[in-house]
Amino acid sequence: MFTELSGQQPRQLKLFEVGTEQQVTPLEEGGSCFSDPSFASNKTQPVHRWVPWIAGFSSKFVRDALSRYLSGKGIVLDPFCGVGTTLVEAVLLGHRTVGFEINPYAVLACRIKLQAGQIALDELYHEIARFQSFYSDSIASAHTPKSTPPAGFKTRSEFYSPKVLRKVLLVQDFIATIADPRLQDLFRLAFASTMVRYSNYSYEPSLGRRKSAGKPDIEDFPVGRVITEKLLEMAEDIAWFQEALPGKSADWHVFNDSFFAYHKYLSPESVDLIITSPPYLNNYHYNRNTRPQLYWLGYVKHPRDLKTLEHSNFGKYWQTVREQAKLELAFSLPNTDIEEQIQTLRKINREKGIYGGNGWANYAVAYFNDCYAFAKAIDFVLKPNATALVVIGNSILQGIMIPTDYYFAKIAESIGLEIVRIDVPRATRVGNSIIQSDARVAGDRETQRLYEAVVELRKRPT
Ligand SMILES: C[S@@+](CC[C@H](N)C(=O)[O-])C[C@H]1O[C@@H](n2cnc3c(N)ncnc32)[C@H](O)[C@@H]1O
Repeated sequence: MFTELSGQQPRQLKLFEVGTEQQVTPLEEGGSCFSDPSFASNKTQPVHRWVPWIAGFSSKFVRDALSRYLSGKGIVLDPFCGVGTTLVEAVLLGHRTVGFEINPYAVLACRIKLQAGQIALDELYHEIARFQSFYSDSIASAHTPKSTPPAGFKTRSEFYSPKVLRKVLLVQDFIATIADPRLQDLFRLAFASTMVRYSNYSYEPSLGRRKSAGKPDIEDFPVGRVITEKLLEMAEDIAWFQEALPGKSADWHVFNDSFFAYHKYLSPESVDLIITSPPYLNNYHYNRNTRPQLYWLGYVKHPRDLKTLEHSNFGKYWQTVREQAKLELAFSLPNTDIEEQIQTLRKINREKGIYGGNGWANYAVAYFNDCYAFAKAIDFVLKPNATALVVIGNSILQGIMIPTDYYFAKIAESIGLEIVRIDVPRATRVGNSIIQSDARVAGDRETQRLYEAVVELRKRPT
């Protein structure tokens, strides 16, 4: 059952009026036309399981969508490609693919996955064996590591205990000896994707001290074993990928740049299908939460580097805009209540200064202004009649439900795209940093529900 829109409000979503209890009508069994887009199932899928990513897609969702929307081979774009779920599935089905991602750690993950076809497995196994003997010999001796922790990486508590730190530095020493840059990157990724597990921090889902989550600190840990296991998992998946890849070659580009620079890279009407999920309006801080990886991999050396990333992040962050006076929407959206919702939000808890409603209203405005720029970009890059599938979550800011999916769809419609449907494959979502924070208005969880929607848009024929 689909939610046909064509100018009307979606049937399956009750739309939200200021001051009313806001709910999503549950879908009937099998009622959605899309597979569940959430990342959970990726944890067991070859290649996708290498790096967990918040709000990553399920590979099945992408695969189903590729089969359904592309009859022949085409160009598939993911403007916010994260760790590359769309891109990997697209190349496996023989499509050309393009991704944009601002986070260099995620870009590293994408590139290594997409290069999996070119990795010489015997050389990889040889390096893994060399790593095992280097590591066990160095641990057994009193060998002092040559590597040092990244100078700019500061944390409130000691990130690694002294014993774990020595092991981590020995791993860095080994990585420096790998001659082949692709294999070296593979080891860097194996380290980066496991590095928080043996630290005194954990993902809950935001990165915080283990102690704050009621977990004991980690005094010692079999670091080498965990990295070896990760490398063996990668080797197994690379063998699988090489079997699965048609023609043994892949045509892909991943740009470590903001999608808003699309004019530099993409021609008008060049893309056959977009499958993507921008950051949600939930202030999940991709950059802060990957600080350990960004510093240890050498992509960030100074807090100002992180600031640059924050400013290019889709929708900015609440922390970036909360102190500004009053941000205004860059567009108007008649026949929706977006303006009223933002006004209502702005008036809440004024006495709390930057923690009150004005800051959150600014955040919502910055987010929807980027939705507007994003919709224009979709219209620019899609071929006539081509489809964009945008997975987006709704939001609760200071107790106000913001139907992000519906507003985004109406914004897209206002610039000329056709709304085909808004579908809700998953009517509950967890892990929203805002409702778990102190900024939460008591009791909201009982009356407001988080969901994830697929907004299907089509470029009109010229
Ligand atoms: C919801 S995640 C996408 C996850 C992806 N679907 C996957 O399966 O891995 C959104 C991503 O958008 C990235 N991002 C944020 N702002 C961006 C921008 N301006 N241009 C490109 N990527 C951006 C974030 O770093 C984050 O990785």
